[in-house]
Amino acid sequence: MVTTIKDLFKESLDFLSQQHVFYGHGVEVAEDEVILLLMFVLQEDYLTLNAKPEQVVSDEQVDHVRNILQKRVEERIPMAYLVGFSVFAGLQFKVNDRVLIPRSPFAELIDLGFQPWLALEEPVAVLDLCTGSGCIGLAIAHYFKSTQVDVSDISREALALAQMNAQELSLNKRVTVIESDLFENITRCYDLLVSNPPYVDEKEYEGLPQEFAYEPKSALVSNKLGMEIPVKILCESPDYLSEKGFLFLEVGYNDEVLEGLFPDIPFEWIDLSMGGQGICVFSRDDLLKYRSQFKQFLQNDVS
Ligand SMILES: C[S@@+](CC[C@H](N)C(=O)[O-])C[C@H]1O[C@@H](n2cnc3c(N)ncnc32)[C@H](O)[C@@H]1O
Repeated sequence: MVTTIKDLFKESLDFLSQQHVFYGHGVEVAEDEVILLLMFVLQEDYLTLNAKPEQVVSDEQVDHVRNILQKRVEERIPMAYLVGFSVFAGLQFKVNDRVLIPRSPFAELIDLGFQPWLALEEPVAVLDLCTGSGCIGLAIAHYFKSTQVDVSDISREALALAQMNAQELSLNKRVTVIESDLFENITRCYDLLVSNPPYVDEKEYEGLPQEFAYEPKSALVSNKLGMEIPVKILCESPDYLSEKGFLFLEVGYNDEVLEGLFPDIPFEWIDLSMGGQGICVFSRDDLLKYRSQFKQFLQNDVS
């Protein structure tokens, strides 16, 4: 019997929809996982796949799709790791198990051009701290051609992938990769500092769905209720921001934890309409104003 793309899509979706797997590693629903899978196995982009529903697929391709789905369900490996790429801000990024799968709500801010805080059409120096696959910094560099972007991470393996992604997107001339433990090897100031750092508490990590175990723990977990790395970034950022610079920091669903630790600080959270939560923004001046509180937290014993 002949199988078409449409048949294979339906069979895969019916199968996956009946399984108990966790979505949320770059895709929110079974349908999007199946699209990633078919893009990979049939080596087509999304638009081409969509335009050719009646195209016949080979028996080998059908078997390949079924085998990957089996692995997805039995081992609970996120689909992006099984196919080796993910889509973020409309761009494809290579991923492997040395990097977090891109899924940050920063995509919406990139879409909005970080307005009204910045004008990215003008020359702007950007640092993406804790860059992982490079997704946030590289997407900024891709969409805003007058930006110069540094992407940094403590993980050499992650940076190797970020470098490959920069190459794939032809961004090497405007993107520099820096190996650094937070700001240790950062030597200049930026107009825009973005960061999606680890912010999950150790206890919380243990309760996460199985899929999270395939991501590097060091990309997810931070000490002190998950807030040690985010607060270090809040504390040290003003030294690396230009006078009119801004820090955008993601702490996801731990926004209330962060706010609860600093009840006197009026946090400004970005209104996100496309899903996700927990990106706050600070000017350099405000970060300096609250610095002593951040320092105090870092000196205290918290668990
Ligand atoms: C939550 S992941 C975010 C990756 C990417 N920005 C994204 O949004 O998909 C956090 C990243 O922080 C890096 N990281 C952890 N501790 C770090 C540190 N002390 N200094 C720099 N990077 C660190 C991890 O290697 C990981 O790539």
